[in-house]
Amino acid sequence: MNFDTNAVRGKSKPDPTTGAIIPPIYQTATYVLEEVGKDKGFDYTRSSNPTRQDLEEHLAAIEGGKHAIAFSSGMASADSCMKLLSKGDHVVCCDDVYGGTARLFNKLMTNYGVEFTYVDSQNAANVEEAIRPNTKMLWIETPTNPLLKVTDLEAVGNIANERELLYVVDTTFATPVFLRPLEYGADIVLHSLTKYLSGHNQLIGGALITNRQDLFEELKYIQKSVGAVPSPFDCWLTIIGLKTLHLRMSRHWENAEKIAEYLVGHPKVSRVIYPGLESHPMHEVAKSQMSGFSGMISFELHGGLEAGKKLMNSVELCMLAESLGAVETMITHPATMTHAEVPREERLARGFGDGLVRLSVGIEDVEDLISDLDSAFEKV
Ligand SMILES: Cc1ncc(COP(=O)(O)O)c(C=O)c1O
Repeated sequence: MNFDTNAVRGKSKPDPTTGAIIPPIYQTATYVLEEVGKDKGFDYTRSSNPTRQDLEEHLAAIEGGKHAIAFSSGMASADSCMKLLSKGDHVVCCDDVYGGTARLFNKLMTNYGVEFTYVDSQNAANVEEAIRPNTKMLWIETPTNPLLKVTDLEAVGNIANERELLYVVDTTFATPVFLRPLEYGADIVLHSLTKYLSGHNQLIGGALITNRQDLFEELKYIQKSVGAVPSPFDCWLTIIGLKTLHLRMSRHWENAEKIAEYLVGHPKVSRVIYPGLESHPMHEVAKSQMSGFSGMISFELHGGLEAGKKLMNSVELCMLAESLGAVETMITHPATMTHAEVPREERLARGFGDGLVRLSVGIEDVEDLISDLDSAFEKV
């Protein structure tokens, strides 16, 4: 099936009992056995649940993977990947990774003896140079949050393959509509379902997708042991969201391109970061591995923090909120919101100033969004 068909239909069939076109929500903790040792494929919802299974099959279909596991959050998915590691293992990670992922790695996982090295993976040679004898995993996010750095997934995939390293790729920002890392050698793809995949700011969720049976079994075992499962209702809401993913993504992208062009020409803006712009240092790589540039834009204002704050306090249609990837346009100040825990010196060294603004462009009328930004800019 082609992508759009998989997005709309997933793998679920009409309910066999009633013919309901949308699968029911199996809001149950447990399942009655037919007799000792004989169940109907489900025994306890921490292990599996029919609504969750529908979602997982749907996610595997759109990602072009064999197996998917749905989690209670994107971070629960990342945490489960960490549990594939042991004390003394080393991870090479892209340096602009999402702040919550960095917190998990630096503040929690280091207590368990896992080591991390951060490199600018826009140059794949930096990844290779950071590999040590105890390196077990390469962790790449592309495009990154919030600097929208783009990694050449095939180049890093070749390194992972040669060195037999686990290759995890978080493509929450791109979604499988625009980028499918399994095609470039990723062992595990991570998504925060909270964002574009569910798409309506209605839930927190995460997912891992893999082609590898061994990893699937190990991750299922980890999930069953830890229990970071999404509720059946959240799985159902995500399924409904997935049905329009392709339509929403093309509108997010279309609107973002127009807003990026508008920002580039604005006298109060000093820098616009968007992989779809030729000025993006990895534009050519982004163009070759992605079929669209998604809806995330970051930009900096002349006037730094104060100017950024004024802008964010002046918008009316764009909403000042700490998330992304939903139908509503959201504006964020990473330095005080999503990345508040990253030390200032580290942010500045990474080229991520106090005045950086992140825009998650929604699917409203783009002229309304531009006129909202325009009026807000007048107050800056
Ligand atoms: C790129 C990326 N990965 C993972 C996460 C974590 O997802 P969640 O908030 O669903 O735990 C986020 C959250 O913003 C993110 O931006």
